[in-house]
Amino acid sequence: MKKIFSGILLIITISAYSQKFDRLAQTPPMGWNSWNKFGCDVSENMIKEIADALVSSGMKDAGYEYIIVDDCWHGKRDSLGFIHPDPTRFPSGIKALADYIHSKGLKFGIYSDAGSQTCGGRPGSRGHEYQDAIIYAKWGVDYLKYDWCNTDNINPKGAYTTISNALFAAGRPVILSMCEWGTSKPWEWAADIGYLWRTTGDIYPCFDCVVNHGNYSDWGVLRNLNKQKDLRQYAGPGHWNDPDMLEVGNGMNVNEDRAHFSLWCIVAAPMIAGNDVRQMSQQTHDILTNREAIAIDQDSLGIQGFQFSNTDSLELWVKPLKNDAWALCFLNRSNTLKKINYNWKNIVINDSLIHKVLRFDAGKYKIHNIWTKTDQGSTAKPLVADLPGHDVIFIRLSLN
Ligand code: GLA
Repeated sequence: MKKIFSGILLIITISAYSQKFDRLAQTPPMGWNSWNKFGCDVSENMIKEIADALVSSGMKDAGYEYIIVDDCWHGKRDSLGFIHPDPTRFPSGIKALADYIHSKGLKFGIYSDAGSQTCGGRPGSRGHEYQDAIIYAKWGVDYLKYDWCNTDNINPKGAYTTISNALFAAGRPVILSMCEWGTSKPWEWAADIGYLWRTTGDIYPCFDCVVNHGNYSDWGVLRNLNKQKDLRQYAGPGHWNDPDMLEVGNGMNVNEDRAHFSLWCIVAAPMIAGNDVRQMSQQTHDILTNREAIAIDQDSLGIQGFQFSNTDSLELWVKPLKNDAWALCFLNRSNTLKKINYNWKNIVINDSLIHKVLRFDAGKYKIHNIWTKTDQGSTAKPLVADLPGHDVIFIRLSLN
């Protein structure tokens, strides 16, 4: 009797939890997504050209791996409920596209929605979760962005658990990217369900604006950054806070793009480019492929950085790295140049989350500038620099 009882208990315990594939997204996922630049204007030819450009531009070698087709790839469901792609935009079918992307050594991602329809009005996965997961596995999908439009009366934890379990049951390892915009605080409950979760509404390519659409608004880079401040304890290997995809190359100034990229690295954000990589400027290319910056984002400790100080629109953000190194990012939020004279001697940076203290009185750290790619002395002397408006000084401190 006891045996039967504990057997029942075990089954109940197993079925109450969602299941995730092991070892995926041990560092924040990197890739490219169609939405920020192209919206609903997606097609197989464009996506194939993007895959080619990701390889030829060196972005693949820099770490960008997933090519994700966002909303509007969908056609209709057939009489059995199976989803098909838009026949005009994807005449060869999704499997052929995934095969092409895999042949380039890249991985393939797709988009759906927990509700009846996607945000773009295409068929959502509600009621078709297991069916969709099977089709995605057949097509060779490696990443699923799962949105939250048209989900009236659905419980977020339940809905994301259903699709997570469906993907697991289909058997092909897939990174589940949860796009619930942070409304129900997924960081508190989703670490066993998804690999990354949006913490904000949609990003907009401006530094600090709000674009009001009536019942929702899009936010500039700094506003999305602000939302990450109290969430660092929820991030780590296999489960990341997602302040939304990159807008580098989509219209901001080069210094704003540089600041955006640096700050996303500091907060260990997923690095999903969102520009037209087929025709980007040299400056955009150089930002997106800065390997020293990417190494900070991808640091194997997987610790999300934090804002250490904030005085008069000058902020210092800090991220602990492996081998007792640290990444520091001075951010000038204002429009006007700031003169920096930072005397390390009196500074003590206490990371209470991981119980690590960075102090400069006992020993000195070497300073390496991530954007100029040069060594800049040590913390024995104050850091003296001019910091233009909407720009950053992004440095790595190390003991050797
Ligand atoms: C929502 C998401 C966006 C994008 C669109 C597609 O707004 O937050 O990232 O996927 O839907 O319609």
